[in-house]
Amino acid sequence: MSHGYGKTALITGASMGIGRELSLVFAENGYDLVVVARSKDKLEALATELYDEFGTTVTVFGQDLSTKTAPAKLFKALQDQGLHIDVLVNNAGFGSFKPFADTARGRITDMVQVNVAALTELLHLFAEPMIAKGEGRIMNVASVASFNATPGAAVYGATKAYVLSLTEALSEEFREHGVTLTALCPGLTETEFSKNATGKKGENGSVPDFMKLDAKQVAKEGFDALHSGEVVKVNGIAYQLGVEWMRYTPRSMVRAMSGMFSKQLEDGF
Ligand SMILES: NC(=O)c1ccc[n+]([C@@H]2O[C@H](COP(=O)([O-])OP(=O)(O)OC[C@H]3O[C@@H](n4cnc5c(N)ncnc54)[C@H](OP(=O)(O)O)[C@@H]3O)[C@@H](O)[C@H]2O)c1
Repeated sequence: MSHGYGKTALITGASMGIGRELSLVFAENGYDLVVVARSKDKLEALATELYDEFGTTVTVFGQDLSTKTAPAKLFKALQDQGLHIDVLVNNAGFGSFKPFADTARGRITDMVQVNVAALTELLHLFAEPMIAKGEGRIMNVASVASFNATPGAAVYGATKAYVLSLTEALSEEFREHGVTLTALCPGLTETEFSKNATGKKGENGSVPDFMKLDAKQVAKEGFDALHSGEVVKVNGIAYQLGVEWMRYTPRSMVRAMSGMFSKQLEDGF
């Protein structure tokens, strides 16, 4: 029997990119879904696609997670419908590849709100019924940027370091309650992320192809890691080696190289 028979997964940022691919994998494996993002039209089209292909029941929530009240609103709406969430996937997020001083303050505070505050509040809200039931799974989409400071994308890297730290800590706290946590840490992945983070999409070919991951593959690996209870999943051999290299390299060298890499990403990837 497939993983998700009779179960419901909530996926944020499901309208495109990695979140959309995660929705496809969960639906293919028998889960019903609750999907969240601002682009309600895209979520509704996804719901129709998943129903037609897999018979998936999909509940759509058009929510802006940079709004402080969004997580509580979403939780209440699902409670009112009597819907239990078996799997929470905190995937919604965005970056900004620009010097800190040149970045609009509103963009910085929205990034912290979506990548950190909303993720944390959703986790707190939805973990409670999972703990009461004695089972549940939570995936937080972090990044390879979680492992080092990222000059040129300082706030983004800091938000993702938070996500990894929180996930690892809670994986220990929640173990006795039967709730698993997984931090999915992709490297550069071909989605709308680059365009949103830089306004560009790699026109100058600054990033070699072997560094670009496929969103479908990232989602599949995330789904498997979640179900095998893996706490930290780094996607792609190049990035796995990179993360290992950083463990044995002075932090001063790592952050200097990371700053050079961010510069290369200013034109997108
Ligand atoms: N692509 C990469 O290279 C890469 C690498 C490492 C980690 N990641 C992480 O992977 C996750 C998914 O990103 P992606 O690459 O799939 O990028 P993407 O194609 O830009 O998708 C981002 C998703 O997040 C949603 N989102 C953004 N802001 C939101 C808001 N204020 N409220 C609600 N939803 C919001 C977007 O939906 P709407 O616009 O419809 O709201 C969209 O569904 C992010 O957490 C990102 O940091 C990406």
